[in-house]
Amino acid sequence: MCGIVGYIGYREAYPIVIKGLKRLEYRGYDSAGVMLYDGNDIKLSKTKGKVVDLEAKALKEISTNGTIGIGHTRWATHGVPNDVNSHPHVSNSGDLVIIHNGIIENYAPLKVELIKRGYVFHSDTDTEVLVNLIEEVQKKENLKLGKAVQVALNQVFGAYAIAVFDKKNPDEIVVARLGSPLAIGIGEGEYFIASDASPFIEYTSNAVYLEDGEMANIRLHKPMKIRKIKDDSLVDPYIQELQMNLEQIEKGGYDHFMLKEIFEQPDVITDTYRGRLHANEGIIQMSGVEDNLEKFLNAERIIIVACGTSWHAGLVAEYILEEFTRIPVEVEYASEFRYRNPIINSKDVVIAISQSGETADTMAAIKLAKEKGAFVYGVCNVVGSSISRETHAGSHTHAGPEIGVASTKAFTTQITVLIMMALRLAKAKGTLSKTDFHRYLQELEIIPEKVKEALETNDKAKEIATIFKNSHNCLYLGRGYNFPVALEGALKLKEISYIHAEGYPAAEMKHGPIALIDERMPVIVIAPKQGHYDKIVSNIQEIKSRSGIIIAVVTKGDTQVRGLADHIIEIPETSDALSPLITTIPLQLLSYHIAVLRGCNVDQPRNLAKSVTVE
Ligand code: F6R
Repeated sequence: MCGIVGYIGYREAYPIVIKGLKRLEYRGYDSAGVMLYDGNDIKLSKTKGKVVDLEAKALKEISTNGTIGIGHTRWATHGVPNDVNSHPHVSNSGDLVIIHNGIIENYAPLKVELIKRGYVFHSDTDTEVLVNLIEEVQKKENLKLGKAVQVALNQVFGAYAIAVFDKKNPDEIVVARLGSPLAIGIGEGEYFIASDASPFIEYTSNAVYLEDGEMANIRLHKPMKIRKIKDDSLVDPYIQELQMNLEQIEKGGYDHFMLKEIFEQPDVITDTYRGRLHANEGIIQMSGVEDNLEKFLNAERIIIVACGTSWHAGLVAEYILEEFTRIPVEVEYASEFRYRNPIINSKDVVIAISQSGETADTMAAIKLAKEKGAFVYGVCNVVGSSISRETHAGSHTHAGPEIGVASTKAFTTQITVLIMMALRLAKAKGTLSKTDFHRYLQELEIIPEKVKEALETNDKAKEIATIFKNSHNCLYLGRGYNFPVALEGALKLKEISYIHAEGYPAAEMKHGPIALIDERMPVIVIAPKQGHYDKIVSNIQEIKSRSGIIIAVVTKGDTQVRGLADHIIEIPETSDALSPLITTIPLQLLSYHIAVLRGCNVDQPRNLAKSVTVE
C-alpha cells in the first residue's frame, strides 16, 4: 500500500525517484506523483494511473532537474483515485510538500478546525489536512520544519510514514513513522528515503529502519538526527547492512515477478533451511526456537495469527504442529482475533506469520497478545520489518524480496520454517518416533529437488489454463494437509485472474457446494497418493456423477484418478505432511497462466496491495 521515495544529495533526483516508485509498484497503488526542487522552485506532477503515466505527464508538465525530490504511489483510502487526491500534497502557503502512507484517523475534526482558520482544501485526503496542520503549527509557534512536524504529529491519531519538505529551508527532508514502514539509505553526501530498501539498493547498502514513533531530520552534509516524536529524546541510529541485491529485485528474464518467484522456490526453500537443518546429524537448529524452547514446551496452546496466504500457511502448520508435537493449535484471522477479546494467557504461545512483516491486522493481533501476557513468535520474510521487531523472538523465512502481489515463495518458505519448528519441538517432546523424525529430516532436505520436478508441470498447467481461461467459477478441493492448499489455490486464482473460486475440504461438498456442480464447473482436486486418497477418490466420483469437470493433481504413476479425471497434473511423491510444499506448485502455475491468458496484470492485480498497512 502507498509507496514513498525520496532523495536529497548531489545526483538528479527525478530518475532515482521514478525508478524507486517503479520498484515499489508491487505494493499496490492507483495513482502516483512527484515533487522536485531545483534550488528555486517546487515542481509538482501527479496523476491517476501508473508510474509510466506519471512519467509521461511529468515530462510534459515540468522540467525534471533538481537534486531534491520526493515521490509517491497512492492506494486510495480517503478520496477516490484521481489527480487531485494523488500525493504529494502542498500546504496553503505553497511552501510545505508532503507524501504520506497511512491514515490520519482524526483528520475530520482537524479539517473543520483548519477551515475555521481560513485554510482551503482541494482534495478529499487526510494527508492534505496533515500538511496544513504542520503549516499552522509552524506559523503559530514560529517553528522550524522538524519541530512543527513533531508538534503536529502529537495531535494526530492513526498510522503514517511521511516525508515533508519545506521550500523555506530547502536543504532538509523530515520523515516520521508510526505503523507504516520507512527506511533511510545512507550514502556519501546523499540520503535516500523509501518504504523499503529496494529503491536505493544500487546506491548504498547502509540503511536505518525508523522504529514506530520515531522521526528524523535528514539534512544535506549533516549526520542524520533521529528522535522520538513523543518526548523529543534522541535515538542512536542503528545502521543495518542490507542483505538484498539488485538481481533479487529484478525480473531476471521472466515475464513477471510472480513467475520468477514461483521458479525461485527450490532455491529459497534451500535458503530457508540452510544452517538450520542438518539431516545427516539429525539436528534442527533454529536460534529463535532454541532460545525459547521452554516457552514452547510449556505452552498449553499455540495460537497462530495471520492474514491471507500467510493464514493458509498457518492452517498447514496447525495440522503439522498438532500431529508432530501434540500441542493444541488454533489458527485465527488476525483481523478477527484483534477485535474479539480473545482468551489468552501467559501459557499461550502466539505465532504471527507475515511475509511483509507490515500487515496492520497482524501487527495489532501481536500487540494484543503481548498485552495479555502471551509469548509472541514471528515468522516473517522481511528483515527489519515492524512485525519482526515487535515480536519477542522469531525466524525469518529467507525467501528474498517477494514483489508479485500474489504470494508464492513466501507461502512455501513459511511452511518450511513451521515444519522445522514442529520437528524441533517434536524431538524435544519425544512425540515423534526417532525413525519418523529422521525420515522427515531427510525428506525435507530433498524437497527442493521435488519442487523443481513439480515446476516441470508448467507446460501442462499452461495447456489446462488455455482450456479453462474463460470459466466464471472454479472449485478447489483437498483434504487433510491439502485442504489449506485448496484454499490457497482458490485465492491465487481469484486474486490475479478475477475468476470466482472457492476452496473446500472435499468432504464438505455434499453439505452444500455440490449443488454448484454442472458440466461448466471446473473442479480442481488435490489428490496425492498419501493421506486420504481413497476418500478423495470417492469425492471425485461424486463430482463425476454430476458432470463436473475434474482437474486432478496426482502423484506420478497414479492410475485410479487418471481414469476418472478429465485432466491430470502429475507431481512427485512425498509424505502427507510435506505434500503442501509440492501440491501448491501446479496450482500457482495454473493461476498464473490463466491470468496471463486473460490479459490481467499479474504482478499488480486490481485493488490489491502487497503490504496491507491499513486495517
Ligand atoms: C495473497 C496475498 C495476501 C497476503 C496477506 C498477508 O497472495 O499476498 O493474502 O498473504 O495480505 O500479507 P503478509 O503475509 O505480508 O502479512
